[in-house]
Amino acid sequence: MGNILITGSSGFIGSFLVEEALKRDLKVYAGMRKSSSKKYLQDPRILFAEIDFTNKESIKEFLLKKKQEGVVFDYIIHNAGLTKARKKEDFYLVNYTFTRNFAEALIEAGTLPKKFVYTSSLAAFGPGDEVSMKPVMLDDTPKPVDEYGKSKLEAEKYLMSVTDFPWLIIRPSGVYGPRETDYFVYFQTISRGMEPYIGSRPQILTFIYVKDLVRLIVDAVLSDISGRSYFVTDGKEYTSREFAAITKKHLNKKTLSFTVPAGLVGGIAFAMEKIFSITGRMPTLNTDKFNIMKSLNWTCQVDVLQKDFSFKAEYDLDKGVKEVLEWYKKEGWLH
Ligand SMILES: NC(=O)c1ccc[n+]([C@@H]2O[C@H](COP(=O)([O-])OP(=O)(O)OC[C@H]3O[C@@H](n4cnc5c(N)ncnc54)[C@H](OP(=O)(O)O)[C@@H]3O)[C@@H](O)[C@H]2O)c1
Repeated sequence: MGNILITGSSGFIGSFLVEEALKRDLKVYAGMRKSSSKKYLQDPRILFAEIDFTNKESIKEFLLKKKQEGVVFDYIIHNAGLTKARKKEDFYLVNYTFTRNFAEALIEAGTLPKKFVYTSSLAAFGPGDEVSMKPVMLDDTPKPVDEYGKSKLEAEKYLMSVTDFPWLIIRPSGVYGPRETDYFVYFQTISRGMEPYIGSRPQILTFIYVKDLVRLIVDAVLSDISGRSYFVTDGKEYTSREFAAITKKHLNKKTLSFTVPAGLVGGIAFAMEKIFSITGRMPTLNTDKFNIMKSLNWTCQVDVLQKDFSFKAEYDLDKGVKEVLEWYKKEGWLH
């Protein structure tokens, strides 16, 4: 079937991408850095590729060495990315500059793949309008509300600007599943009997279960479609209260539901950021995080995705949350 290089393979989505690519009988090169964990990369068929994205020349060296060994990457999924950062600049360095370094190195080394899928994010477009509550459309003007989203958008714009580069951009909404640590904090909060909300208006959320996402991404990288971008969700929309209700049902827990005024959370986030600015680091609750948490409309256009890839999610939120909670319990993350 060919060689595939998957960057960021040590992470949550990357480790599932590796498993999916192995299922399709691809020869899988798991792209990672020296310090990356191999905890979820134990399959003996996995070949490891250590790549230093900080330096275009070292990526080129890596690609040319592989070429000399007779290894050409037919497909690349550039999934490495920074979702949390100590400093805002780090988002741009990893998500934008490293993507640019990688693409330039591929061009200069003469080792372009048949397809280069970039794992972007719905955050690159930002949330939809909160009055009309219309979904974010593929031809809307992107309006990211945090530095992470802005950095992903920069990378997208760069890829789209390169001529004769076989890019395809995938923008998942909230990805959840085994091994994931951010939604886990929410599940843990519910499990501890607390059900917090920010502001009084309902939030409309969208999700994609990691197993559905990686199936779609591998379909996309193997397809003959390029030069297009897609949002990815399970095709449904959920209120934040529905998300909590599904979680409570599968945890069999009762909770104390409470609403924190958005202004209060925003004020705390702002103050925390000011205090932390002395140290040059970002607090866990910061204005970017607040902008994401308070946004009411995370719906987006998925009909084109469904049509182009005949994509139908196998997991809706009910099925996915049930499975992921079982995994957290089995692994001892939740009791
Ligand atoms: N999770 C979501 O809800 C979601 C939604 C939309 C899009 N995405 C995108 O999906 C991709 C994967 O996200 P994830 O949720 O799986 O995150 P994750 O678990 O944090 O994994 C991130 C991966 O990127 C690698 N990486 C980070 N900084 C790097 C650097 N400086 N140099 C090289 N590699 C680096 C990490 O390697 P180490 O293990 O060495 O740190 C890790 O393998 C990201 O591009 C993210 O923007 C995620």
